[in-house]
Amino acid sequence: MRIRRCAVLWLEPREVAHFELEDLLKGGTGVVGEMRWHAHAPHLPEPLPVDAQDAAWLGEFSPSDWMDGDRARERIGAARLEAWLRAGLLIGDGDDFAERRQADERFRAQHWHGLASVWHAASRWEGLDAAGEVAEAGMDSAQGLRAKFGAPPPALHDRGEAAQRIALPRVARTPLDDLFDARSSCRNFDTARALPQAPFAHVLERVFGARGQVRAADDFDVLKKTSPSGGALHPTEAYLIVRRVEGVAPGLYHYRAGDHALQPLPSPQDLDRFAWLAVAGQQWFADAHVLIALAPRFARNYWKYRNHAKAYRVAILDVGHLSQSLFLTATEFGLGAFVTAAINEVDIERAFGLTGYVDGPLAVCGFGLRANKMATSEFDPNRKIWPRAGR
Ligand SMILES: Cc1cc2nc3c(=O)[nH]c(=O)nc-3n(C[C@H](O)[C@H](O)[C@H](O)COP(=O)(O)O)c2cc1C
Repeated sequence: MRIRRCAVLWLEPREVAHFELEDLLKGGTGVVGEMRWHAHAPHLPEPLPVDAQDAAWLGEFSPSDWMDGDRARERIGAARLEAWLRAGLLIGDGDDFAERRQADERFRAQHWHGLASVWHAASRWEGLDAAGEVAEAGMDSAQGLRAKFGAPPPALHDRGEAAQRIALPRVARTPLDDLFDARSSCRNFDTARALPQAPFAHVLERVFGARGQVRAADDFDVLKKTSPSGGALHPTEAYLIVRRVEGVAPGLYHYRAGDHALQPLPSPQDLDRFAWLAVAGQQWFADAHVLIALAPRFARNYWKYRNHAKAYRVAILDVGHLSQSLFLTATEFGLGAFVTAAINEVDIERAFGLTGYVDGPLAVCGFGLRANKMATSEFDPNRKIWPRAGR
């Protein structure tokens, strides 16, 4: 068997703190910092602690050129070689650990920029109740944040001399201004009523549907949508958690942008729990009638922007545009909408059958009927949404 390194590996010199009684007895705080190497790779469930010698050895393996297996065994020892093959840090071209090699080959075929792939992997959560943790830390209110962190940088930013400023004319308002003013993140959905099918379908069609298609070259189709997309590649897929929509069974779906249809997918038994988990414990968003995981197919973007340092940024920006289009469309229909990046990516991927580095969710948005009472706070300083009595 021949050996080479996995496609992307980043060695982080990380400071790890631990408690030492001896330090406390000597008058210290008891908390002692220690430098340890951690091996990051986009396919690892979490970074692998390694020692300094391991770090140096890992640096000897090429990600492209194969090394003879016997030589590798002699160099780092049989146990370490097997552990790293098992973890997928090293890849063998034989029958053992073949699934690791296949995953590595699949990863290479996506054309990720190395650092972006490590960042993407490191920012994914699993099973986290972020809302609970934020509340416990007293950081779920402006007062709590201010007390903990002091004052933030000011909301308005001054540059240069006041005397040099050029006052600009105010233009007359148009209906679009009213639409923008009514846009507000909804944290109070009506859990007693179902969303009619017409606005449900209309939001999906306007935000995610294809409005035109051009054959740019052989086997290269380009879609026109309401949001811009880097390279016109529109890599982002919409994966739906339908909770309460008339005529649509609760469950998971993939939205088909070309023919404006829903593809049913196997659904978890406890959909309430999965919706809660998807938005990391934020019940105010889990209550939405429809939640949508926005998951780029990275290879569609990176096909053009190969191993490109800006490409992941472009994928994130695309998702942001889609969320604003969804906000404005929902607002026009009198619906509430939201977007959040505080999501459990790993749980979402598992449920929808996705692979993080192939087609992973970057955000979850959602929409539905607003409740008549505000239980969770919203940001509505101009009173465009609340109070809702009489609507
Ligand atoms: C990328 C992004 C992530 C957000 N994540 C959360 C979130 O995790 N939880 C939440 O309650 N609101 C979230 N929000 C909503 C913001 O808190 C909200 O936009 C802000 O308070 C301003 O309110 P407005 O949208 O009503 O103008 C997010 C917004 C954006 C754009």
